[in-house]
Amino acid sequence: MIKVELRIAITREISPAIERCELAHLPRQPIDLDRARRQHHAYEQRLKEAGYSCVRLAADVTMPDSAFVEDIAVVFDEVAIITRPGAASRRVETAAVAEALRAYRPLQYIDPPGTIDGGDVLTVGRRVFIGESARTNPAAIAQMQSILAPHGYTVIGVAVRGCLHLKSAVTAVAGNILLINRDWAPTECFRSFALVDVDPAEPAGANALRLHDRVIYPAMFPRTRARLVDRGIQVADVDVSEIVKAEAAVTCCSLIFGP
Ligand code: GLY
Repeated sequence: MIKVELRIAITREISPAIERCELAHLPRQPIDLDRARRQHHAYEQRLKEAGYSCVRLAADVTMPDSAFVEDIAVVFDEVAIITRPGAASRRVETAAVAEALRAYRPLQYIDPPGTIDGGDVLTVGRRVFIGESARTNPAAIAQMQSILAPHGYTVIGVAVRGCLHLKSAVTAVAGNILLINRDWAPTECFRSFALVDVDPAEPAGANALRLHDRVIYPAMFPRTRARLVDRGIQVADVDVSEIVKAEAAVTCCSLIFGP
């Protein structure tokens, strides 16, 4: 197991089958694979600029959603939890991600009947908010609690409505600041945080990828971006206009860990 504390980003090349991706809240649109891959490579470049070593897994033509590695594992300092994705088509994605993570963390697994996508897991310090969504069920949340409580984490279930994942609705942009779309997630359990609302014209703008010193954020949401900058947050822009057609966002495309 690799003990040195490097900043690691696990990514996976976009599948040639991405046009057959799972969709829950978006109409199916043609996806230009080359353009999506160029955007994905630029996203990896943003990670490298922030000091992360990218470990890129190979694309798999049989796994349309496999670039969205965030859903396949949740990485803590103490353990990596391999999920059991809510979409049955995505369960084949776990083997390669587990194999990559094995070098860095002890692994634990979510078992049936639990289902959970990493996109439903928002960790802020020792608090782990988990979306109760179409992908994530109470059985998996209970398993997360059992795995994480001995490490000092508190698990909090959050009802999600109108979007795919909890992190479609709310993400951390600083230690005490969350970016939120209140139409998709309740605010009661986030009372101890300062909240930045998405601009009303940008309802899908709540997904930012927080790194140690900046956030990676979609260029397609300039009004919400301005709100982040007003709060003193350093923003690295990325164009994910093709990738979002697969109902994905900036957190979905990597597993980030390190100091
Ligand atoms: N297309 C992303 C997902 O539904 O998992």
